Amino acid sequence: MSGAHTAVDVIRTKRDKGRLTDEQIDWIIRSYTDGDVAEEQMSALLMAIFLNGMAPTEISRWTAAMINSGIRMDLSKVGRPTVDKHSTGGVGDKISLPLAPLVAACGAAVPQLSGRGLGHTGGTLDKMEAIAGWNPMLSPEEMAAQLADLGAVICAASADLAPADRKLYALRDVTSTVESIPMISASIMSKKIAEGTDALVLDVKVGSGAFMKSHEQAAELARTMVGLGAAHGVRTSALLTDMSIPLGRAVGNAVEVAESVEVLAGGGPADVVELTIALAREMVSLAGLDVDPADVLASGKAMDSWRAMVAAQGGDPDAPLPEPKEKLLVRAAQSGVIADMDALAVGVAAWRLGAGRARKEDPVQPAAGLLCLAKPGESIEAGAPLFELHTDTPERFADAQQLLDGSVTYAPAGNAVERTGIVLETIRSV
Ligand code: URA
Repeated sequence: MSGAHTAVDVIRTKRDKGRLTDEQIDWIIRSYTDGDVAEEQMSALLMAIFLNGMAPTEISRWTAAMINSGIRMDLSKVGRPTVDKHSTGGVGDKISLPLAPLVAACGAAVPQLSGRGLGHTGGTLDKMEAIAGWNPMLSPEEMAAQLADLGAVICAASADLAPADRKLYALRDVTSTVESIPMISASIMSKKIAEGTDALVLDVKVGSGAFMKSHEQAAELARTMVGLGAAHGVRTSALLTDMSIPLGRAVGNAVEVAESVEVLAGGGPADVVELTIALAREMVSLAGLDVDPADVLASGKAMDSWRAMVAAQGGDPDAPLPEPKEKLLVRAAQSGVIADMDALAVGVAAWRLGAGRARKEDPVQPAAGLLCLAKPGESIEAGAPLFELHTDTPERFADAQQLLDGSVTYAPAGNAVERTGIVLETIRSV
């Protein structure tokens, strides 16, 4: 196959709701990665896929073509079962930080390749970089060696892992074609399958702070990804979890590291502990290990594993975390029970304070973020502190405060506000 004419045929097929052949998919992914298909042609194809969807066989081939665009890592010599977790992204989602060392302490190896935040959802690497000296850049050989030695690594993906996804994701970002179930599934699963893990647990977030706002959409995304994992020999399950309110009390970078360390020390907010244990149980089960992560967390072994993992990557687990130049308290507008707290508004507020970035080349402030001093279900008096805002650039306070003022709803004092458990559904391959 060759040339612009073929790209036009591929676009027309999808525009007219047709089905792409395996050959067409392999060709377009390869040619786009090599720079032989123009950005405007790929943009048109992405929009056609966004609008008309893809059949399961097309998604599977598209994913395989993205995997084949780069290296596939070999973790077979790690000497422990490998199992990873991927979250579709949420507000206050620091779970990878306590989870990777916990599952390592259970006897598995967790190759946690992570990304940086874009928009209101934070990135694991941005959070970990709040730890003095910590280095996210490991070669595939260094990563495999650390996994064999300690069982846990959190690091950046190397540039030659699914390079087609790197290019396509940037283009989806600027063509408003990100929120497509076939494209999200292929993007996430190509990277995870290329990473070489034996098993994978997906944390598919549902609610205002997530990509997928409804349970039905999230379940479809989860089923598509679980099917892709099974088709490529990776044992995969998915937990649908609530992202309508922030996870835990801390949203930002250093503040989320501090909260993760509290969890590893046996404390921390109940929802963060509940989700960490639920994901760890699923991971340990897929890895074929007979151990309860709740016991391992209580034993302190997960904390030992965290300290070793941080130190192995140049970080000082005892170094004080960065403090913001300025803090500001936002107070409750009325007395009562907090009925709801909009995760999206809280995430955007933390982002505006400097915890996140608007463009991928922007820096983040390690100390920026916020603490939710009260959460849904808790009582509060009018004028009592509700949020504590952290930033190095106080001119950002007004913007964040405005967002937070509208993010909370109250029920009359004495009312019970019931919330469901954090795990809404588990989807396993049949
Ligand atoms: N995360 C990814 O890696 N890819 C997507 O498409 C969406 C979220």
